[in-house]
Amino acid sequence: MGPENGPDATRKKIFVKTYGCQMNVYDSARMVDVMAPSGYTEVDQPEDADIVILNTCHIREKAAEKVYSELGCLRDLKKEKSGRGENLVIGVAGCVAQAEGEEIRRRAPVVDLVLGPQTYHRLPEYVGRLSNGGPGIVETDFPADDKFETLPAPERRKTLARGATAFLTIQEGCDKFCTFCVVPYTRGAEFSRPVTRILDEARALADAGVREITLLGQNVNAYHGDDGKGAAASLGHLIRRLAGIDGIERLRYTTSHPRDMDDELIAAHAEVPELMPYLHLPVQSGSDRILAAMNRRHDAESYIRLVERIRAANPGIAMSSDFIVGFPGETEQDFEATLALIREVGYAQAYSFKYSPRPGTPASAEEDQLPEEIKSERLQRLQALLGEQQIAFNRACAGSTMSVLFDRRGRSESQLVGRSPYLQSVHIDDAPESLFGQIVDVVVEEGYRNSLRGRLLETDSVPA
Ligand code: SAH
Ligand code: SF4
Ligand code: F3S
Repeated sequence: MGPENGPDATRKKIFVKTYGCQMNVYDSARMVDVMAPSGYTEVDQPEDADIVILNTCHIREKAAEKVYSELGCLRDLKKEKSGRGENLVIGVAGCVAQAEGEEIRRRAPVVDLVLGPQTYHRLPEYVGRLSNGGPGIVETDFPADDKFETLPAPERRKTLARGATAFLTIQEGCDKFCTFCVVPYTRGAEFSRPVTRILDEARALADAGVREITLLGQNVNAYHGDDGKGAAASLGHLIRRLAGIDGIERLRYTTSHPRDMDDELIAAHAEVPELMPYLHLPVQSGSDRILAAMNRRHDAESYIRLVERIRAANPGIAMSSDFIVGFPGETEQDFEATLALIREVGYAQAYSFKYSPRPGTPASAEEDQLPEEIKSERLQRLQALLGEQQIAFNRACAGSTMSVLFDRRGRSESQLVGRSPYLQSVHIDDAPESLFGQIVDVVVEEGYRNSLRGRLLETDSVPA
């Protein structure tokens, strides 16, 4: 709330709470952008807001339940505010909104607005209707007008405040239909943004001080956007174009599907220095039987060979993955195949989940659902192994020098935290303020489970 915003009381305020994946983080930022021309600024707690939006995730059961409990708290806040003669618009966006639609307003009548991930560019119009006393709105269509064409450029001040790293959605939706997953239903069919639009947005981010961009998509490497010459550009091609933008020094992308890692993309890992040596490539399971039941369209062997090809292109690359344990019908033998794959690949980092049946997905209708105890026990064993690998990877970094992009403050005033090329958090003490948003060489002194501690390579080369 700087002085340039004028008196506080005349501004309208929006609070967006984000659940789920990075796509939602990006969408939340764009919801704030889209409301800016109507005079809204972002606040960081619901008590201060005129509009509260929960941008939700439906990937696991717990994610949706959290939303309903949060709506309970918001009902009390709305009552309290209305006692003071203030209005509060409550919206639910994102994947729970898409999946549950009307049901949300039935279960939580306090909700004014339900809008799916493809319709949030219409937020100003909906808020306008609600502010004029209009009835509640539920909008979960996949409209023909492309939301990306309607959205304003990323708001400059906001982007700057968020620092030197940013997300940029280049692809949305998924046509893969893994049998456990709701994403193809909540985000719809695969869609790629045209190359020129992405380049424009990346230039705007670079102008606003962003140094590192993470390209986003539920199936980001299935990207096939219009290249402006009537052909489809691959992700490898797009990455080369983005690497040419002044100021963009680092690129990443997530999440990839093993089936879509083409030669051009693998070559980019060898040849584009801006592309960071870290790859999140979910495998989910190491058992061919389970991979088939999941409809993953790859087996364990082909995944391992793929990782070998990627490492041949860039030997230093750090691998990451997602795993699901306790998929219906998973035997102890299947689970051990997953442990074996993890040992063979060696991960720097990974996410792992207990299988959670999602309504409407094929796997949720399977009869051989596993008991909770078995899922928990396997998850524990899996995480113990992944934890060992992560610590080993981080410890092995001690003594090396790596470039770190400093993007946030640490626990103490004088501590700064940044990102290594391998997406580790690196903190240094007694750090000069001037390092903010800079990429500098750091000598790693110690590796921990979730982070690294280092010191500046040459203190006299710190930018003024
Ligand atoms: N598009 C990405 C990831 C989508 S969701 C991909 O294809 O890998 C992120 C992760 O959530 C998935 O990789 C999977 O590990 C996990 N997940 C998805 N549905 C799940 C479910 N029903 N139960 C447990 N984990 C799930
Ligand atoms: Fe879900 Fe599979 Fe699509 Fe990933 S590839 S979003 S896990 S259906
Ligand atoms: Fe969740 Fe939707 Fe992302 S279900 S993981 S917010 S695509």
